[in-house]
Amino acid sequence: MSKIKTRKGAPYARILGVGGYRPTRVVPNEVILETIDSSDEWIRSRSGIETRHWANDEETVAAMSIEASGKAIADAGIRAEQIGAVVVSTVSHFSQTPAVATEIADKLGTNQAAAFDISAGCAGFGYALTLAKGMVVDGSAEYVLVIGVERLSDLTDLEDRTTAFLFGDGAGAVIVGPSEEPHIGPTVWGSEGDKSDTIKQTVPWNEFRLGDVSQLPLDGKGNVKFPAITQEGQAVFRWAVFEMAKVAQQALDAAGITPDDLDVFIPHQANVRIIDSMVKTLKLPEHVTVARDIRTTGNTSAASIPLAMERLLATGEAKSGDTALVIGFGAGLVYAATVVTLP
Ligand SMILES: CC(C)(COP(=O)(O)OP(=O)(O)OC[C@H]1O[C@@H](n2cnc3c(N)ncnc32)[C@H](O)[C@@H]1OP(=O)(O)O)[C@@H](O)C(=O)NCCC(=O)NCCS
Repeated sequence: MSKIKTRKGAPYARILGVGGYRPTRVVPNEVILETIDSSDEWIRSRSGIETRHWANDEETVAAMSIEASGKAIADAGIRAEQIGAVVVSTVSHFSQTPAVATEIADKLGTNQAAAFDISAGCAGFGYALTLAKGMVVDGSAEYVLVIGVERLSDLTDLEDRTTAFLFGDGAGAVIVGPSEEPHIGPTVWGSEGDKSDTIKQTVPWNEFRLGDVSQLPLDGKGNVKFPAITQEGQAVFRWAVFEMAKVAQQALDAAGITPDDLDVFIPHQANVRIIDSMVKTLKLPEHVTVARDIRTTGNTSAASIPLAMERLLATGEAKSGDTALVIGFGAGLVYAATVVTLP
Protein backbone atom coordinates (compact mmCIF):
# COMPACT_ATOMS: atom_id res chain seq x y z
CA MET A 1 0.00 0.00 0.00
CA SER A 2 1.33 3.43 -0.85
CA LYS A 3 2.55 5.57 2.06
CA ILE A 4 2.54 8.76 0.02
CA LYS A 5 0.43 11.55 1.45
CA THR A 6 -1.14 14.09 -0.83
CA ARG A 7 -2.48 17.63 -0.56
CA LYS A 8 -5.95 18.85 -1.25
CA GLY A 9 -6.58 22.32 -2.55
CA ALA A 10 -9.78 24.26 -3.16
CA PRO A 11 -12.96 22.45 -4.23
CA TYR A 12 -12.91 24.41 -7.51
CA ALA A 13 -11.04 27.22 -9.26
CA ARG A 14 -12.04 30.45 -10.97
CA ILE A 15 -10.53 33.42 -12.75
CA LEU A 16 -10.37 36.19 -10.15
CA GLY A 17 -8.80 39.04 -12.10
CA VAL A 18 -7.54 40.00 -15.55
CA GLY A 19 -5.08 42.56 -16.89
CA GLY A 20 -3.66 43.51 -20.27
CA TYR A 21 -0.79 45.48 -21.76
CA ARG A 22 -0.79 46.81 -25.31
CA PRO A 23 2.42 48.40 -26.62
CA THR A 24 2.31 52.16 -27.07
CA ARG A 25 3.01 52.09 -30.82
CA VAL A 26 -0.13 51.66 -32.90
CA VAL A 27 0.63 50.41 -36.42
CA PRO A 28 -2.01 51.06 -39.11
CA ASN A 29 -2.26 49.04 -42.32
CA GLU A 30 -0.55 51.89 -44.22
CA VAL A 31 2.74 50.99 -42.50
CA ILE A 32 2.39 47.35 -43.58
CA LEU A 33 1.80 48.52 -47.17
CA GLU A 34 5.31 50.03 -47.23
CA THR A 35 6.78 46.53 -47.52
CA ILE A 36 4.12 44.39 -49.23
CA ASP A 37 1.97 44.71 -52.32
CA SER A 38 -1.54 44.80 -50.85
CA SER A 39 -4.21 47.32 -49.87
CA ASP A 40 -5.90 48.55 -46.72
CA GLU A 41 -9.19 47.30 -48.18
CA TRP A 42 -7.80 43.78 -48.79
CA ILE A 43 -6.32 43.48 -45.29
CA ARG A 44 -9.52 44.73 -43.63
CA SER A 45 -11.86 42.55 -45.65
CA ARG A 46 -9.76 39.34 -45.60
CA SER A 47 -8.59 39.49 -41.97
CA GLY A 48 -10.57 42.22 -40.18
CA ILE A 49 -7.38 43.95 -39.03
CA GLU A 50 -7.21 47.75 -39.09
CA THR A 51 -4.36 48.41 -36.66
CA ARG A 52 -2.07 46.41 -34.40
CA HIS A 53 0.45 47.27 -31.65
CA TRP A 54 4.20 46.71 -32.04
CA ALA A 55 6.49 46.72 -29.04
CA ASN A 56 9.51 49.02 -28.74
CA ASP A 57 12.87 47.99 -27.23
CA GLU A 58 11.69 48.65 -23.67
CA GLU A 59 8.47 46.69 -24.13
CA THR A 60 10.12 43.32 -23.69
CA VAL A 61 8.26 40.06 -23.09
CA ALA A 62 9.05 40.40 -19.36
CA ALA A 63 8.16 44.11 -19.16
CA MET A 64 4.80 43.70 -20.91
CA SER A 65 4.02 40.66 -18.73
CA ILE A 66 4.80 42.54 -15.52
CA GLU A 67 2.49 45.42 -16.55
CA ALA A 68 -0.38 43.07 -17.41
CA SER A 69 0.18 40.97 -14.28
CA GLY A 70 0.18 43.99 -11.97
CA LYS A 71 -3.28 44.88 -13.26
CA ALA A 72 -4.53 41.29 -12.92
CA ILE A 73 -3.24 41.08 -9.33
CA ALA A 74 -4.96 44.36 -8.45
CA ASP A 75 -8.15 43.26 -10.20
CA ALA A 76 -8.16 40.00 -8.21
CA GLY A 77 -7.61 41.89 -4.96
CA ILE A 78 -4.69 39.74 -3.85
CA ARG A 79 -1.04 40.44 -3.03
CA ALA A 80 1.83 39.19 -5.21
CA GLU A 81 3.21 37.17 -2.27
CA GLN A 82 0.10 35.00 -2.36
CA ILE A 83 0.89 33.74 -5.86
CA GLY A 84 2.18 30.18 -5.71
CA ALA A 85 2.90 29.63 -9.39
CA VAL A 86 3.55 31.70 -12.52
CA VAL A 87 2.87 30.10 -15.90
CA VAL A 88 3.89 32.04 -19.00
CA SER A 89 2.74 30.98 -22.43
CA THR A 90 4.83 32.45 -25.23
CA VAL A 91 6.62 31.54 -28.46
CA SER A 92 8.48 34.82 -28.80
CA HIS A 93 10.83 35.03 -25.82
CA PHE A 94 14.28 34.81 -27.35
CA SER A 95 16.29 33.49 -24.40
CA GLN A 96 15.99 29.74 -24.56
CA THR A 97 16.89 29.48 -20.89
CA PRO A 98 16.02 30.40 -18.19
CA ALA A 99 12.26 30.66 -18.48
CA VAL A 100 11.06 34.28 -18.50
CA ALA A 101 8.49 33.29 -15.86
CA THR A 102 11.16 33.26 -13.13
CA GLU A 103 12.15 36.89 -13.82
CA ILE A 104 8.49 37.91 -13.82
CA ALA A 105 7.79 36.05 -10.56
CA ASP A 106 10.77 37.76 -8.92
CA LYS A 107 10.07 41.29 -10.18
CA LEU A 108 6.41 41.09 -9.16
CA GLY A 109 7.48 40.20 -5.62
CA THR A 110 6.02 36.72 -5.34
CA ASN A 111 7.42 34.60 -2.53
CA GLN A 112 9.62 32.40 -4.71
CA ALA A 113 6.62 31.13 -6.66
CA ALA A 114 7.09 28.12 -8.94
CA ALA A 115 7.62 29.61 -12.40
CA PHE A 116 7.86 28.17 -15.89
CA ASP A 117 7.12 28.84 -19.56
CA ILE A 118 5.05 26.75 -21.93
CA SER A 119 4.86 26.71 -25.72
CA ALA A 120 1.42 26.00 -27.12
CA GLY A 121 1.09 28.64 -29.81
CA CYS A 122 -2.28 30.36 -30.04
CA ALA A 123 -3.84 27.76 -27.70
CA GLY A 124 -1.31 28.70 -25.02
CA PHE A 125 -3.69 30.62 -22.80
CA GLY A 126 -6.13 27.70 -22.60
CA TYR A 127 -3.30 25.27 -21.91
CA ALA A 128 -1.91 27.45 -19.10
CA LEU A 129 -5.39 28.04 -17.66
CA THR A 130 -5.95 24.29 -17.50
CA LEU A 131 -2.67 23.76 -15.64
CA ALA A 132 -3.55 26.59 -13.25
CA LYS A 133 -6.96 25.13 -12.48
CA GLY A 134 -5.33 21.77 -11.67
CA MET A 135 -2.77 23.41 -9.38
CA VAL A 136 -5.43 25.30 -7.41
CA VAL A 137 -7.58 22.20 -6.99
CA ASP A 138 -4.72 19.88 -6.02
CA GLY A 139 -3.26 22.39 -3.60
CA SER A 140 0.04 23.02 -5.41
CA ALA A 141 -0.72 26.74 -5.34
CA GLU A 142 -3.51 28.83 -3.86
CA TYR A 143 -3.24 31.48 -6.57
CA VAL A 144 -1.72 31.01 -10.01
CA LEU A 145 -0.70 33.82 -12.35
CA VAL A 146 -1.31 32.85 -15.99
CA ILE A 147 0.27 35.04 -18.65
CA GLY A 148 -0.07 34.95 -22.44
CA VAL A 149 2.54 37.24 -24.00
CA GLU A 150 4.03 37.73 -27.46
CA ARG A 151 6.31 40.03 -29.44
CA LEU A 152 5.34 38.51 -32.76
CA SER A 153 6.64 41.60 -34.59
CA ASP A 154 10.11 40.11 -33.95
CA LEU A 155 9.07 36.95 -35.81
CA THR A 156 7.27 38.62 -38.72
CA ASP A 157 8.72 38.81 -42.22
CA LEU A 158 7.51 42.22 -43.33
CA GLU A 159 8.15 41.25 -46.97
CA ASP A 160 5.82 38.23 -46.77
CA ARG A 161 2.45 39.46 -47.97
CA THR A 162 0.66 36.40 -46.56
CA THR A 163 1.63 37.14 -42.93
CA ALA A 164 3.06 40.69 -42.65
CA PHE A 165 -0.32 42.22 -41.74
CA LEU A 166 -1.43 39.53 -39.28
CA PHE A 167 0.62 39.70 -36.14
CA GLY A 168 0.77 42.03 -33.15
CA ASP A 169 2.40 42.30 -29.72
CA GLY A 170 1.01 42.43 -26.20
CA ALA A 171 0.45 40.64 -22.90
CA GLY A 172 -2.64 39.42 -21.10
CA ALA A 173 -2.73 37.95 -17.60
CA VAL A 174 -5.24 36.37 -15.25
CA ILE A 175 -5.17 35.23 -11.63
CA VAL A 176 -6.69 31.80 -11.05
CA GLY A 177 -7.65 31.05 -7.45
CA PRO A 178 -9.93 29.05 -5.16
CA SER A 179 -13.69 28.85 -5.50
CA GLU A 180 -16.54 27.08 -3.73
CA GLU A 181 -18.35 26.50 -7.04
CA PRO A 182 -17.14 25.42 -10.49
CA HIS A 183 -16.29 28.50 -12.57
CA ILE A 184 -13.88 26.89 -15.06
CA GLY A 185 -15.39 24.07 -17.09
CA PRO A 186 -13.62 21.00 -18.45
CA THR A 187 -11.05 21.81 -21.12
CA VAL A 188 -11.45 20.16 -24.51
CA TRP A 189 -7.94 20.18 -25.89
CA GLY A 190 -5.62 18.30 -28.18
CA SER A 191 -3.00 18.39 -30.89
CA GLU A 192 -2.80 17.42 -34.56
CA GLY A 193 0.92 17.07 -35.15
CA ASP A 194 0.35 15.65 -38.61
CA LYS A 195 -0.41 19.27 -39.58
CA SER A 196 2.65 20.75 -37.86
CA ASP A 197 3.98 22.08 -41.16
CA THR A 198 1.02 24.43 -41.68
CA ILE A 199 2.30 27.02 -39.17
CA LYS A 200 6.01 27.07 -38.44
CA GLN A 201 9.23 29.01 -38.15
CA THR A 202 10.82 29.59 -41.56
CA VAL A 203 14.27 28.39 -40.43
CA PRO A 204 15.18 26.63 -37.14
CA TRP A 205 17.65 28.59 -34.99
CA ASN A 206 20.53 26.13 -35.51
CA GLU A 207 20.19 26.30 -39.31
CA PHE A 208 19.93 30.09 -39.16
CA ARG A 209 23.25 30.15 -37.30
CA LEU A 210 25.13 27.32 -39.00
CA GLY A 211 23.22 26.43 -42.16
CA ASP A 212 24.29 26.72 -45.79
CA VAL A 213 23.70 30.40 -46.61
CA SER A 214 22.83 29.55 -50.21
CA GLN A 215 19.87 27.54 -48.89
CA LEU A 216 18.55 30.25 -46.55
CA PRO A 217 15.92 32.88 -47.44
CA LEU A 218 17.44 36.29 -48.25
CA ASP A 219 15.97 39.78 -47.96
CA GLY A 220 15.98 42.44 -50.70
CA LYS A 221 19.56 43.44 -49.76
CA GLY A 222 20.95 39.89 -49.97
CA ASN A 223 21.16 39.39 -46.19
CA VAL A 224 19.93 36.16 -44.61
CA LYS A 225 16.44 36.81 -43.30
CA PHE A 226 15.77 36.49 -39.59
CA PRO A 227 13.52 33.46 -38.89
CA ALA A 228 9.83 34.31 -39.03
CA ILE A 229 6.46 32.63 -38.68
CA THR A 230 5.09 31.25 -41.92
CA GLN A 231 1.78 29.54 -42.50
CA GLU A 232 -0.38 27.88 -45.11
CA GLY A 233 -3.12 30.44 -44.64
CA GLN A 234 -5.91 28.69 -46.49
CA ALA A 235 -5.26 25.27 -44.91
CA VAL A 236 -5.21 26.77 -41.42
CA PHE A 237 -8.28 28.84 -42.20
CA ARG A 238 -10.25 25.78 -43.31
CA TRP A 239 -9.12 23.76 -40.28
CA ALA A 240 -10.11 26.56 -37.92
CA VAL A 241 -13.52 27.04 -39.53
CA PHE A 242 -14.48 23.36 -39.81
CA GLU A 243 -12.78 21.71 -36.84
CA MET A 244 -12.71 24.39 -34.16
CA ALA A 245 -16.45 24.99 -34.11
CA LYS A 246 -16.80 21.29 -33.22
CA VAL A 247 -14.28 21.65 -30.40
CA ALA A 248 -16.11 24.75 -29.13
CA GLN A 249 -19.37 22.81 -29.13
CA GLN A 250 -17.70 19.95 -27.20
CA ALA A 251 -16.54 22.45 -24.56
CA LEU A 252 -20.13 23.70 -24.17
CA ASP A 253 -21.38 20.10 -23.89
CA ALA A 254 -18.68 19.21 -21.35
CA ALA A 255 -19.67 22.21 -19.21
CA GLY A 256 -23.30 21.19 -19.51
CA ILE A 257 -24.51 24.41 -21.08
CA THR A 258 -26.07 25.45 -24.37
CA PRO A 259 -25.36 28.52 -26.54
CA ASP A 260 -28.43 30.13 -24.92
CA ASP A 261 -26.69 30.04 -21.53
CA LEU A 262 -23.65 31.91 -22.88
CA ASP A 263 -23.11 35.64 -22.40
CA VAL A 264 -19.75 36.02 -24.14
CA PHE A 265 -17.70 34.28 -26.84
CA ILE A 266 -13.94 34.91 -26.83
CA PRO A 267 -12.26 32.94 -29.63
CA HIS A 268 -8.59 33.30 -30.50
CA GLN A 269 -8.23 36.45 -32.59
CA ALA A 270 -6.76 35.04 -35.82
CA ASN A 271 -9.15 36.31 -38.47
CA VAL A 272 -12.52 38.04 -38.17
CA ARG A 273 -13.94 35.73 -40.86
CA ILE A 274 -13.02 32.68 -38.75
CA ILE A 275 -14.77 34.30 -35.76
CA ASP A 276 -17.90 35.11 -37.79
CA SER A 277 -18.01 31.61 -39.23
CA MET A 278 -17.77 30.00 -35.76
CA VAL A 279 -20.56 32.24 -34.46
CA LYS A 280 -22.74 31.01 -37.32
CA THR A 281 -21.88 27.31 -36.99
CA LEU A 282 -22.40 27.37 -33.22
CA LYS A 283 -25.69 29.23 -33.78
CA LEU A 284 -24.84 31.69 -31.04
CA PRO A 285 -27.90 33.78 -30.16
CA GLU A 286 -27.94 37.55 -30.71
CA HIS A 287 -27.47 38.28 -27.00
CA VAL A 288 -23.98 36.69 -26.95
CA THR A 289 -21.23 39.32 -27.00
CA VAL A 290 -18.48 38.29 -29.42
CA ALA A 291 -14.86 39.46 -29.05
CA ARG A 292 -13.56 41.05 -32.25
CA ASP A 293 -10.49 42.60 -30.69
CA ILE A 294 -8.50 41.54 -33.75
CA ARG A 295 -9.55 44.77 -35.51
CA THR A 296 -7.20 46.86 -33.37
CA THR A 297 -4.88 44.22 -31.94
CA GLY A 298 -4.10 41.79 -34.76
CA ASN A 299 -3.19 38.21 -33.89
CA THR A 300 -1.20 38.19 -30.64
CA SER A 301 -1.19 34.38 -30.28
CA ALA A 302 -1.11 33.36 -26.58
CA ALA A 303 -2.03 36.91 -25.53
CA SER A 304 -5.12 37.26 -27.69
CA ILE A 305 -7.77 35.71 -25.41
CA PRO A 306 -6.83 37.45 -22.14
CA LEU A 307 -6.35 40.75 -24.00
CA ALA A 308 -9.78 40.44 -25.60
CA MET A 309 -11.29 39.44 -22.23
CA GLU A 310 -9.76 42.45 -20.53
CA ARG A 311 -11.04 44.82 -23.20
CA LEU A 312 -14.61 43.48 -23.16
CA LEU A 313 -14.73 43.99 -19.39
CA ALA A 314 -13.08 47.42 -19.57
CA THR A 315 -15.52 48.70 -22.20
CA GLY A 316 -18.53 47.27 -20.39
CA GLU A 317 -19.43 44.98 -23.32
CA ALA A 318 -19.07 42.10 -20.85
CA LYS A 319 -19.45 42.11 -17.10
CA SER A 320 -18.10 40.24 -14.11
CA GLY A 321 -19.95 36.97 -13.61
CA ASP A 322 -20.78 36.51 -17.29
CA THR A 323 -20.42 33.01 -18.71
CA ALA A 324 -17.86 32.94 -21.52
CA LEU A 325 -16.68 30.33 -24.00
CA VAL A 326 -12.97 30.70 -24.79
CA ILE A 327 -11.18 28.78 -27.53
CA GLY A 328 -7.59 29.02 -28.72
CA PHE A 329 -6.07 27.26 -31.72
CA GLY A 330 -2.89 27.50 -33.74
CA ALA A 331 0.65 26.26 -34.34
CA GLY A 332 1.08 22.58 -33.61
CA LEU A 333 -1.61 22.35 -34.59
CA VAL A 334 -3.09 22.61 -31.07
CA TYR A 335 -6.36 23.72 -29.56
CA ALA A 336 -8.02 24.27 -26.18
CA ALA A 337 -11.59 25.33 -25.40
CA THR A 338 -13.35 25.84 -22.08
CA VAL A 339 -16.26 27.66 -20.49
CA VAL A 340 -15.37 30.14 -17.75
CA THR A 341 -17.05 32.70 -15.55
CA LEU A 342 -15.57 36.14 -16.20
CA PRO A 343 -13.79 37.79 -13.26
C1 LIG B 1 -3.93 34.72 -44.17
C2 LIG B 1 -5.35 34.90 -44.64
C3 LIG B 1 -5.94 36.18 -44.08
C4 LIG B 1 -5.37 35.00 -46.15
O1 LIG B 1 -6.71 35.10 -46.61
P1 LIG B 1 -7.26 34.16 -47.78
O2 LIG B 1 -8.60 34.60 -48.08
O3 LIG B 1 -7.08 32.74 -47.31
O4 LIG B 1 -6.29 34.50 -48.93
P2 LIG B 1 -5.63 33.49 -49.96
O5 LIG B 1 -4.38 32.97 -49.36
O6 LIG B 1 -6.66 32.52 -50.42
O7 LIG B 1 -5.30 34.45 -51.13
C5 LIG B 1 -6.31 35.04 -51.93
C6 LIG B 1 -5.68 35.90 -52.97
O8 LIG B 1 -5.14 37.07 -52.34
C7 LIG B 1 -3.74 37.18 -52.66
N1 LIG B 1 -3.07 37.72 -51.50
C8 LIG B 1 -2.41 37.06 -50.51
N2 LIG B 1 -1.96 37.94 -49.61
C9 LIG B 1 -2.33 39.15 -50.04
C10 LIG B 1 -2.17 40.44 -49.52
N3 LIG B 1 -1.53 40.68 -48.37
N4 LIG B 1 -2.71 41.48 -50.20
C11 LIG B 1 -3.38 41.28 -51.35
N5 LIG B 1 -3.57 40.07 -51.88
C12 LIG B 1 -3.05 39.01 -51.24
C13 LIG B 1 -3.31 35.79 -53.00
O9 LIG B 1 -2.18 35.83 -53.82
C14 LIG B 1 -4.52 35.24 -53.71
O10 LIG B 1 -4.53 35.74 -55.03
P3 LIG B 1 -5.06 34.83 -56.24
O11 LIG B 1 -6.50 34.54 -55.89
O12 LIG B 1 -4.88 35.70 -57.42
O13 LIG B 1 -4.21 33.60 -56.21
C15 LIG B 1 -6.21 33.70 -44.20
O14 LIG B 1 -5.86 32.57 -44.94
C16 LIG B 1 -6.12 33.36 -42.75
O15 LIG B 1 -6.48 34.13 -41.90
N6 LIG B 1 -5.66 32.13 -42.45
C17 LIG B 1 -5.69 31.57 -41.12
C18 LIG B 1 -4.84 32.33 -40.20
C19 LIG B 1 -4.89 31.68 -38.88
O16 LIG B 1 -5.91 31.31 -38.37
N7 LIG B 1 -3.78 31.48 -38.29
C20 LIG B 1 -3.76 30.86 -37.05
C21 LIG B 1 -2.43 31.00 -36.62
S1 LIG B 1 -2.40 31.45 -35.05
